[in-house]
Amino acid sequence: MEGRVAERALVLVGFMGAGKSTAARTVAAELGVGAMDSDRELEQRLGEPIASYFDREGEAAFREREEEVVLDLLESARGGVVSLGGGAVGSERVREALRPHTVVQLEVDPEDAWRRASGGERPLARDQVRFDQLHRDREPLYASIADAILPPGGRDAIRAALPALTALSGAPEGTRLVWAGADSGSYPVFFGAGLIASGFFFPGDGRRFVVTDANVARHHAVAADEWIELEPGEDRKTLAAAEDVLRGLARAGAERGDLVVAVGGGVVGDVAGFCAAVYQRGMRHVQVPTTLVAQVDSAYGGKTGVDLPEGKNYAGAYHQPSAVLCDPSALATLPPEELAAGYVEVVKTALIAGGPLWARVRQGGEVDLETVIGCARAKLAVVAEDERDGGRRQVLNLGHTVGHAIESATGYTRYRHGEAVGIGLLAALRLSGREPLRAEVAELLAARGLPLAFEGAAVDDVLALVERDKKRSGGRVPFVLVEAPGGVTPGHEITADDLRAAVEEVHAG
Ligand SMILES: NC(=O)c1ccc[n+]([C@@H]2O[C@H](COP(=O)([O-])OP(=O)(O)OC[C@H]3O[C@@H](n4cnc5c(N)ncnc54)[C@H](O)[C@@H]3O)[C@@H](O)[C@H]2O)c1
Repeated sequence: MEGRVAERALVLVGFMGAGKSTAARTVAAELGVGAMDSDRELEQRLGEPIASYFDREGEAAFREREEEVVLDLLESARGGVVSLGGGAVGSERVREALRPHTVVQLEVDPEDAWRRASGGERPLARDQVRFDQLHRDREPLYASIADAILPPGGRDAIRAALPALTALSGAPEGTRLVWAGADSGSYPVFFGAGLIASGFFFPGDGRRFVVTDANVARHHAVAADEWIELEPGEDRKTLAAAEDVLRGLARAGAERGDLVVAVGGGVVGDVAGFCAAVYQRGMRHVQVPTTLVAQVDSAYGGKTGVDLPEGKNYAGAYHQPSAVLCDPSALATLPPEELAAGYVEVVKTALIAGGPLWARVRQGGEVDLETVIGCARAKLAVVAEDERDGGRRQVLNLGHTVGHAIESATGYTRYRHGEAVGIGLLAALRLSGREPLRAEVAELLAARGLPLAFEGAAVDDVLALVERDKKRSGGRVPFVLVEAPGGVTPGHEITADDLRAAVEEVHAG
């Protein structure tokens, strides 16, 4: 293992125009090691520009020469930094040779890639339609071989991510990293089976104050300087619970440079994150999500808070984590009903993302690591666009307007958050007028034993709570509607009659 780590190179892959060569030089300078560039090496060996060789000999001959060069570079890389030409990973032998190394995918928006790559010498950047298609085809291939995925962000992103990339070699085999970008701060998300039990932790500095709940503490522990244990349950997501945590931190002498570590589901994550946001006006926190809801949704994006009797999440703050450590093996101890409730957030996120994630989720199989990572990336992409809920981020509330009202009208005890959101999702699909999709989603939820209708509260109670939400948002009903998977938009006005009809439909009496 030691030997292997020492031999590891950091290999940058990604589409044309992603900035791999520049990033490789930046990283190599930071690490004090050498940078190698497969395109430059290839041109040296060919004795001519890639474009002229490609045009004369054709793509197949070019790929053969490229493969040879890349295999040589990977063989001799030893702790250095290598950037690969965009198409090099099309070769199975190259993909095999990448295994012992840390492979980092640099993402790039297709428009930026075209702007940077076209008009020059690149043979595959002469026709924008073909270029965009190639981008769509290749991005999943890069992601499938990458140990780490960095969203578009240039040199600064890779420099900021470097400590986390370096730490990756100390994580259990197969751990993957997704870099999360947001205006107020970016952070690494580590995904790995066995991450918690391995003792892996990031960041390495600061004392750790773990906040957890009694159910989680029975099964999962993160090494800490101090533990604060909450009673489990949404009805404990309160200011009183936050006060307990804050006073616990104060008694234990926590300081701003220390870390609150939330080990648990969305309730622990929201309360602990909120406490980190306000304790001494803000300290760092790390999320270690142990429910499916938290692993696909609540651990990312920096929304923290507690409920008030008057409304859910009525007191809170935006406060991005310093890291998220997501260990899917923690789900093994989760009760099946909680797993089912988390599945609703999976369906919701897949509807928002559309594309390959929806294609995978609509098949209804088990939620595997790929799906968890897909959901996390989809959420992070939305948050990166609009961290503070000014527009795009509101799509994440799909199903939540009616869902929150159901949770609140039934006293936060009858339905799990995910269960209520599932019913809200069906109401939102009715309001969207998307009957076949509503039927398909209802089937997915029913297959997990999830409720398709609520009881224990009157329709009027739920409508009154939606009305209160409306007042909070300046008189507009900010409904999120679905045109199609991948076509989800916020800010729709809904008539009172349509809303009543949709809520009545999901009322079991
Ligand atoms: N901040 C956000 O962006 C965001 C997004 C979505 C949801 N949320 C919030 O998340 C909350 C719901 O989260 P949740 O569904 O994770 O609920 P939860 O935190 O209450 O956890 C559900 C139950 O599972 C138990 N549990 C957790 N992990 C376990 C494990 N590995 N093994 C055994 N038991 C375990 C908990 O003790 C609890 O009883 C809601 O309050 C919701 O508002 C926040």
